[in-house]
Amino acid sequence: MPSWKRILVTSALPYANGAVHLGHLAGAYLPADIFVRYQRLRGMDVLYLCGSDEHGVSVLISAMREGKSPQEIIDYYHDRNRRAFERAGIGFDHYSRTSIPLHHRTAQEWFLDLHAKNILRKRIERQLFDEKAGIFLPDRFVVGTCPHCGYERAYGDQCENCSRYYDQTDLIRPTSLLSGTPPVVREAEQWYFPLGEFQENLERYVESHAGDWKENVLQQVRGWLKAGLTDRPITRDMMWGVPVPLPNSEGKVIYVWFEAVLGYISAAKEWAERIGDPERWKTWWCDPVHTRYIAFIGKDNIVFHCLMFPAMLIARGRHTLPDNVPANEFLNLQGQKFSKSLNWSIEVDTFLDTFPPDPLRYTLTMIMPETRDSDFTLQEFQARNNNELVAVLGNFINRTLQFAHRSFGGAVPSAEGMTDADESFLAGFRESGEAVATAIERFRFRDALQNAMQFARSCNKYFNDAEPWRTVTTDPSRAAAAIYCAIQAVYALGIYFEPFLPFSAERVRAMLNLPPEAPRSWDGASQYRLPAGHQLGAAELLFRKIEDAEIEEVFDRLRSSGGDERPTTIGLPADTKPKTQPIKERITYEQFSKADLRVARVLEAERIPKSDKLLRMIVDIGSEKRQIVAGIGKAYTPDELVGKEIIVVANLEPTRLFGVESQGMLLAATTDGGTPVLVTPAGPTAPGNIVK
Ligand code: 2FM
Ligand code: ZN
Repeated sequence: MPSWKRILVTSALPYANGAVHLGHLAGAYLPADIFVRYQRLRGMDVLYLCGSDEHGVSVLISAMREGKSPQEIIDYYHDRNRRAFERAGIGFDHYSRTSIPLHHRTAQEWFLDLHAKNILRKRIERQLFDEKAGIFLPDRFVVGTCPHCGYERAYGDQCENCSRYYDQTDLIRPTSLLSGTPPVVREAEQWYFPLGEFQENLERYVESHAGDWKENVLQQVRGWLKAGLTDRPITRDMMWGVPVPLPNSEGKVIYVWFEAVLGYISAAKEWAERIGDPERWKTWWCDPVHTRYIAFIGKDNIVFHCLMFPAMLIARGRHTLPDNVPANEFLNLQGQKFSKSLNWSIEVDTFLDTFPPDPLRYTLTMIMPETRDSDFTLQEFQARNNNELVAVLGNFINRTLQFAHRSFGGAVPSAEGMTDADESFLAGFRESGEAVATAIERFRFRDALQNAMQFARSCNKYFNDAEPWRTVTTDPSRAAAAIYCAIQAVYALGIYFEPFLPFSAERVRAMLNLPPEAPRSWDGASQYRLPAGHQLGAAELLFRKIEDAEIEEVFDRLRSSGGDERPTTIGLPADTKPKTQPIKERITYEQFSKADLRVARVLEAERIPKSDKLLRMIVDIGSEKRQIVAGIGKAYTPDELVGKEIIVVANLEPTRLFGVESQGMLLAATTDGGTPVLVTPAGPTAPGNIVK
């Protein structure tokens, strides 16, 4: 029997240098929120903490890119992300930030404690120094050729091409991104955490969880352990961060990862101060026997949460170690990695400007990258909303409540005409709830939601089989009993779906006008019955259909903003950045000649219904006719296109744009105002002629 009385839950602290996107949400926040909401419905005492990670080089780089101070950057993104999470229904008990004095004090206290215990080691490190800028270069401030694969724009710590790690001094022909000059190697003194000395202890810790940690997590951690843990530097020469609290440490800060994980502890302290009970944080962090700790993260954070942080907690003593670290893999967006530098991203808040939060939570849970990377597409989002939320869950709740309003004066009807089939329908709630619960407890959120949907489907089936629209005239007491049971199912659905769809669950509670004694608990969902005669609230549609045009607009925005290359220097203030896009990576003639460009004549053109941008065209490419869909509908009318000669890529993989197949792509020039301009031959030519 576990000795736990409470569960501490954290989600990775997002860097406050960018807006959280859908991939972040699906990775570390949505699963944690589902877990927390579920545990609360089970009556468990839960504290759910998060906050902004506000130090580190990435914040500095963003500040330089945007021509702002680091403080301006973190203030902006801290507020923006906090609000975005709130709008997505992520119900933190507290959202803190690592720039607050309380966190600085906490991190420094930990550093000093480990130093006093003689755990930390001092070492001389060889590091790249920018003589022009006069500073040691953090890894992300230097690019050069990867020592492993030869990629020419590799960063100082890791190559984006082959993913391998190395020392910045191994980089071939390094260039400082600050000054554009080649840096020199200089020696610097740094403090190290002897992770290697915790090897055995960590092996025991990890293996004690072999039965309950996710396979992807175990695999990665065992890989690190097998390779052998080594000492890790935990200080950096930098001005932005938590200053190293030792004499003669001017210009040194604690490494962002060492202090960021301690942000979970300072978040608890800040929360405790906020509720007026400053010592309460210890209940959560210093009572390992009674407190279970679950750390939700993405897979790139595994080593820090499964090895480094536990080693720090062990070194400090008497602290709660993570009992589970259910890390997710990555979410892609329309088949490509989310990429800040390539502008391929949909931020949570911009998405929620267009669509409500629950359909997003629903889709992201259904495709959650639990065991492998997965892909978010707007088309799937639309289909899941329309075919599942609207057509299954919303439909059942709506038809039930509408029926009660139409035929029973908006009250729960009498149960007197119940049959064995009705009884067994009601009795089945418990099992459905347990199937959802078991999956959540195993961090299998996709399965959990599938099980919940399965229950919703069975409710629709019950309604169809009972045919209350028929029995209401032929056998009214049967119709009454069926609607009585269906209303109990609406109540149960409101609870079983609450972890996933909290906004809708709240609306279901309002539509049911729940009496004060109706429990809002997992067990209550199958045990409590709304009494006959109870007056319901007004019924309204729970979900609305999402139209093609809405999806298309978001897709268009994504396509037109995506594809920017990463700037090659970061020191330029925003307004001196070149306006033209940098030239893409060089290709050979052979690579270029793979594109089959042809002259084509437009034979027909028409607007795609409900779209203001997309046009469907039939073009003659000499050998055949092709259907092409192009986003030039704001710049051209169908009439002015017919008869025009244009250039198309004739051997492009066909694709479907909002249900219409596009068998090629036309060439258009971009303009500063964003309006596309068709590329057309400057002299007479004929359909099918090659363009080279
Ligand atoms: O990967 C990230 O976004 C980090 N900021 C996560 C930090 S989690 C914890 F250490 F705070
Ligand atoms: Zn490489």
